[in-house]
Amino acid sequence: MKRFEQLADLRAQVREWRMAGLRIAFVPTMGNLHEGHASLFEQAREHADKVIASIYVNPMQFGLNEDWSKYPRTLDADTIILQDKKVDGLFLPDDKTMYPQGTEVQTFVEVPRLSSILCGASRPGHFRGVATIVSKLFNLVQPDVAVFGEKDFQQLMVIRQMVADLFVPIEIIGAPTKRASDGLALSSRNGYLTPEERLQAPVIYQALTTCAEQLRNGERDFAKLEQQARLTIDKAGLRPDYFAIRRHEDLLEPAIEDQRFVVLAAAFLGKARLIDNIQVVN
Ligand code: PAF
Repeated sequence: MKRFEQLADLRAQVREWRMAGLRIAFVPTMGNLHEGHASLFEQAREHADKVIASIYVNPMQFGLNEDWSKYPRTLDADTIILQDKKVDGLFLPDDKTMYPQGTEVQTFVEVPRLSSILCGASRPGHFRGVATIVSKLFNLVQPDVAVFGEKDFQQLMVIRQMVADLFVPIEIIGAPTKRASDGLALSSRNGYLTPEERLQAPVIYQALTTCAEQLRNGERDFAKLEQQARLTIDKAGLRPDYFAIRRHEDLLEPAIEDQRFVVLAAAFLGKARLIDNIQVVN
């Protein structure tokens, strides 16, 4: 696996692969890789000749009181996973490279409506940070396809919208969420949980599956279903941030006649804020 810390080196390699007619897939990450990321690299491999990953803990998508400085940086362990998945190139920029003038005066990319709801309401500026860094990375790597996890469903929608609105010539692929055997969605932030909290955490998935089942059974009292789920999560000792049933295609509030939904949840547990979702699409 080739490592690139300088823009010029990454660009030279991308140019060479492109001139050789090779298809490039890209998986942007913030590192602290786990099986969920491994499945993204596998998907990427299926769509391209060369796979490039990036590891960059993007300050612009973290709020002032969030975990940017404490976010786990585990490059040695990450390298083992990347090599195991035969990733061809790893881009490892630093803050000076990505934001030479800092994040304040930086041009930004914003997908307004999608960025202000759900996680965007709790984390103002988060999706602006995501859309901006992903745009910058896309311009540098110029991949044919890019793979993102469906666990971050709203992020995936923001990126799809941005790519469509700005005519970015990159195919966006969503990869299914990887789960532990008790249902907990794999996430770097699970590492913040104590052993006791780790036992409580799967309640989010349980509440999501119950709600999804009720929707599949034709239940349409959305407010009641959301309220029940919040109560379940609350009783298990977590602090629900939101639990929302939304239309699958645009994350708007659903109507009785809708058939395709996504149920999304976020909850605080100890030092972690956990998110998850389930799609109800058939
Ligand atoms: O999902 C993530 O890990 C990040 O939000 C991303 C897409 C790498 C942008 O920093």
